[in-house]
Amino acid sequence: MSVYTASTTAPVNIATLKYWGKRDKSLNLPTNSSISVTLSQDDLRTLTSVATSSSFTEDQLWLNGTPESLTSERTVACLKDLRALRTAVEARDTSLPKFSEWKLHIVSENNFPTAAGLASSAAGFSALVKAIAKLYELPESMSEISKIARKGSGSACRSLFGGYVAWEMGSEVDGSDSKAVEVAPLEHWPSMKAAILVVSADKKDTPSTSGMQTTVATSDLFQHRIKNVVPTRFIEMKETILNKDFAKFAELTMKDSNSFHAVCLDSYPPIKYLNDTSMKVIKLIHTLNAAAGETIAAYTFDAGPNAVIYYLEENEAVVLGLLHELFGGVAGWEKVDKEQLTLLKAF
Ligand code: PMV
Repeated sequence: MSVYTASTTAPVNIATLKYWGKRDKSLNLPTNSSISVTLSQDDLRTLTSVATSSSFTEDQLWLNGTPESLTSERTVACLKDLRALRTAVEARDTSLPKFSEWKLHIVSENNFPTAAGLASSAAGFSALVKAIAKLYELPESMSEISKIARKGSGSACRSLFGGYVAWEMGSEVDGSDSKAVEVAPLEHWPSMKAAILVVSADKKDTPSTSGMQTTVATSDLFQHRIKNVVPTRFIEMKETILNKDFAKFAELTMKDSNSFHAVCLDSYPPIKYLNDTSMKVIKLIHTLNAAAGETIAAYTFDAGPNAVIYYLEENEAVVLGLLHELFGGVAGWEKVDKEQLTLLKAF
């Protein structure tokens, strides 16, 4: 019995303009557009291999060597959409094997510790959808495929592209225009660098989906953010990327991280992702920029206390040197394996 296979990788992406809030929970439709930077393929990524055969009796998934359930609503939604697209391919060419009717075996591995407090679901769902789309030889563009990854995990749609990526929120109720598009490839801005400071490897307190629901339902500041702040910032951030204007990119990135964490605190009950070490990192970056007389580094934090620092290559020694020197011994830092986790250079 023939077994057909395909493999792919998808890296983690880090939002510089945050997605926070769903207007439709089951379709993962956001309340605002967002922008992110996808790390390079060599850094933090998921490698996924898929196989299909008429002899397989059930869909199966192994995640980092452990069998996992494939019954979550989100995964089921992704597999259903991918099989529907494959059915269309088979209808156009009836000589093709009927993959759409066969079961799938999926093996997925992260090259970074899952407990590192880094969002692994984006890379995971992106790699899953991309690998099956490859196996099924789907002719759809990556933006089309991104709508399927979006149903797995909102931010996963952005990991289908490398470099600088926008997720356009769209306005349709069925999500048909809520998709990822490339702003620029990573090579567009070769001097841009990122480092990840793992402040805590603990699992986050409030998962993003429930956190978003609380914010949407209770925060007044959130209404201001999505109506008056993000739409302009979305346009400006794309411009700063295309113009390679680091100072402005950095300012928008830091302001947006602060705005996101402010709406979390304005939620009721409040959601707090940053810890004391995160606040020290924020202060340090502002002090560093003030001392340099120009903006040479930017911080951003997702739904957890770990920092991602963006800087230009020419400033690497001063930015990373200072972080090492000042944070080598603080509490909260010691919990993680220093060699592996303290400072992950992302690209
Ligand atoms: O895609 P989710 O449900 O993991 O949510 C991601 C939310 C943030 O990481 C905080 C922001 C973002 O745009 O990635």
